Amino acid sequence: MKNISVIGSGTMGNGIAHVFALFGYSVSLVDISGPALEKALNTIQKNMDRQVSKGLLTEDEKSAAVENIKIYTSLEEGVQNTDLVVEAATENLEVKLELFRNLDKFTPESCVLATNTSSISITKIAAVTNRADKVIGMHFMNPVPVMKLVEVIRGYATSEKVTKDIMELSRGLAKVPVEVNDYPGFVANRILMPMINEAIYTLYEGVAGIEEIDTVMKLGMAHPMGPLQLADFIGLDVCLSILRVLHEGFGNPKYAPCPLLVNMVEAGYKGAKTGEGFYKYTPGSKELVISERFK
Ligand SMILES: NC(=O)c1ccc[n+]([C@@H]2O[C@H](COP(=O)([O-])OP(=O)(O)OC[C@H]3O[C@@H](n4cnc5c(N)ncnc54)[C@H](O)[C@@H]3O)[C@@H](O)[C@H]2O)c1
Repeated sequence: MKNISVIGSGTMGNGIAHVFALFGYSVSLVDISGPALEKALNTIQKNMDRQVSKGLLTEDEKSAAVENIKIYTSLEEGVQNTDLVVEAATENLEVKLELFRNLDKFTPESCVLATNTSSISITKIAAVTNRADKVIGMHFMNPVPVMKLVEVIRGYATSEKVTKDIMELSRGLAKVPVEVNDYPGFVANRILMPMINEAIYTLYEGVAGIEEIDTVMKLGMAHPMGPLQLADFIGLDVCLSILRVLHEGFGNPKYAPCPLLVNMVEAGYKGAKTGEGFYKYTPGSKELVISERFK
């Protein structure tokens, strides 16, 4: 595989394009939004500059990587002659299904179609194509250039060969791939989201405050970040929607989202990206300040 198309140039798409470009792949980065593509190119260059300043990359390697990336607003043009698509568009079922119907039409027959979805069934996405054996999950973690894990999710009909190829390709990107089967939340979010939900219940029931809960998990369990801070970082709306996928997918009340989480999302307190969740965020400041609402 030499030619890669990355669909969606947001947080994850720009990181995925960054990594493939660094490893010498020819990358077509596709987004419906021109400004999003320009912003992504900027972000990639800034992130590569940081790698240069840390001595992880030379200026020449950076320039070569940036040259490997071409941008497109037309899906049809951006996926011609591609060997692998990694879809990282907005997490919305209808958006993904429509994209995969079109990818099936526009890409060469041999092309593997991967999705970076956090929670949508790979099997369901594969079912709208005529190549379910070549549809697979490649769940990168944020920030992509830094995080080693790729959760490789095998849909119900994904072939053994495609799975092996994607595992090998991920290793070639200096990542550590882990193969898992396609059930709600896969492995990462099936374990992480109930923990975050339980941390929110612990706060909601008054067992302890934000600082206490996060400190217990950081110092007691050696987590680099407490679960409430992590929830803010992921986005409380994203956590809520993944919990709903688990709740609906398994039909088990243990996944029911905490009413406090539901309230916070409905009120627009979605974590770092909105400036406030469990903590309050001031641009330019790294200080961790608990939201007034919880004092
Ligand atoms: N953010 C994370 O921490 C994270 C981690 C792992 C996986 N994911 C998954 O990665 C995917 C992308 O998430 P993100 O956080 O980068 O989202 P984002 O909102 O930052 O970016 C999504 C991009 O997709 C573009 N887009 C929407 N519809 C499109 C279409 N039809 N064709 C082309 N581009 C389209 C948007 O313009 C936007 O630029 C989602 O499936 C998400 O679940 C996110």
